Amino acid sequence: MLREKLTEYANSDMYPFHMPGHKRQIEDFPNPYSIDITEIEGFDNLHHPEDILLECENKASEFYGTKKTFYLINGSTSGLLTAVSAVARENDKVIVARNSHQAVYHAIVLRKLNPVYVIPEICDFGIQGEIKVESVEKALNENPDAKAVIVTSPTYEGIVSDIAGIKKVTEKYSIPLIVDEAHGAHFSVGERFPKSAIDMGADLVIQSLHKTLPSLTQTALLHLNSELLEEDDIRKFLDIYQTSSPSYVFMAGMEECIDEMSKDGKKLFDEYAKRLDRFYKDIKTTKVLRILDKDELKDGEYFDFDMSKIVISVKDAPITSEGLNRLLHDKYHLEMEMVSPEYVLAMTSVCDTDEGLTRLKDAILEIDRSLSQKEEEKKTISKSTPDEERKAYKPLNTGLPMHVAFEKKKRAVYFSEAIGKASGAFVYLYPPDIPLIVPGELITAEFVETIKRCKDLKMALKGLPPEDGDLIYIADF
Ligand SMILES: Cc1ncc(COP(=O)(O)O)c(C=O)c1O
Repeated sequence: MLREKLTEYANSDMYPFHMPGHKRQIEDFPNPYSIDITEIEGFDNLHHPEDILLECENKASEFYGTKKTFYLINGSTSGLLTAVSAVARENDKVIVARNSHQAVYHAIVLRKLNPVYVIPEICDFGIQGEIKVESVEKALNENPDAKAVIVTSPTYEGIVSDIAGIKKVTEKYSIPLIVDEAHGAHFSVGERFPKSAIDMGADLVIQSLHKTLPSLTQTALLHLNSELLEEDDIRKFLDIYQTSSPSYVFMAGMEECIDEMSKDGKKLFDEYAKRLDRFYKDIKTTKVLRILDKDELKDGEYFDFDMSKIVISVKDAPITSEGLNRLLHDKYHLEMEMVSPEYVLAMTSVCDTDEGLTRLKDAILEIDRSLSQKEEEKKTISKSTPDEERKAYKPLNTGLPMHVAFEKKKRAVYFSEAIGKASGAFVYLYPPDIPLIVPGELITAEFVETIKRCKDLKMALKGLPPEDGDLIYIADF
């Protein structure tokens, strides 16, 4: 039974280096059943808040310094669907960072929009870097009719783009800038963390409270901070994408999280930053595993970096990322957030303890010592996408709009037959749920190689046919 399994897991010594940000540490909260109600008298209605829920939203707005803040109980997903839907209509163009979360693509499909991509820089470390101001400027010069710009900052790995710079560009065109700041709800709390997109002028900012702050899974915020949009432009889509039965348990938890951050956030985050400083200092001696920090990134690869994300690269180590993940899990009982072909990601939050960070540090140092002794095996493990291939990456369209291809029947064919055809599905590595290919895009030989490599490395792929074998969906005509 799921409940027993969860309880057993909670009682084990597995340490969570993953979401949610409360890290299962909150103890003084009522039994969820005792406060789980519906919209009864005296408890307002999230879809038309006038009373206590409006107060909750207003407190969040005040804390984050926004014109208006909406509670989301269907995650940042519902906020992204809402934001993208609110800024464009059928057939409109939108400038979209290619490394956007699936929710942005789903909004594009639902609203039948035409995306024009800006491609993130690729860091030497093997992660996607920032979206350059110049790339947005170029995209808008070439597409002055675009209705909005949509970027993700920070990325899953903590890379922050120059949102203030991008905003200066969108301002010239009088179009809104949407920032998916799902991983940055803590930026406004901690001084040692990057500046929030809200403070850098973005028009719509979406944040998951549950990812990086002590709040229940699914809780998030949509901030409206713009003269370009009205509250009602947002609310009409929120009514579509959010459940008509929002959980009072979630909302009570959100209020508590924001109250606590308003009251003690600064102190808690100062202490947390010190714990992270100690971790990064002590981990510097690794020989073959590389830990991402600002020194590892080159100038121009990032605007800012969120040190709460611990990215452990296996690029120079004789082990695959999945191999490292297995070791951390099975031997050291440390549960990671994500495994990517070239690195493993540990997600920390203000609720992480010194004990947890020390366990991770000790495990990494011990693994690194043992790996350094088998340096010679290194050449036999190929895990990275060759740099030239990665840097030359450009999605190629077949002329078939994403929403049209999405509606087509999809057919599973062998890789060899698929080359040169239009993809019939989104294919993702999950997490981070960023599509490697979208419906309507050209399946190339290079793309097939990437998929094969991900399969060889046992990465979690979504969107491929369930049968074993080298199969992929094409859009059928
Ligand atoms: C960058 C990014 N945006 C949006 C989301 C969706 O957030 P949620 O899970 O709160 O719906 C995620 C989820 O992982 C994400 O990584």
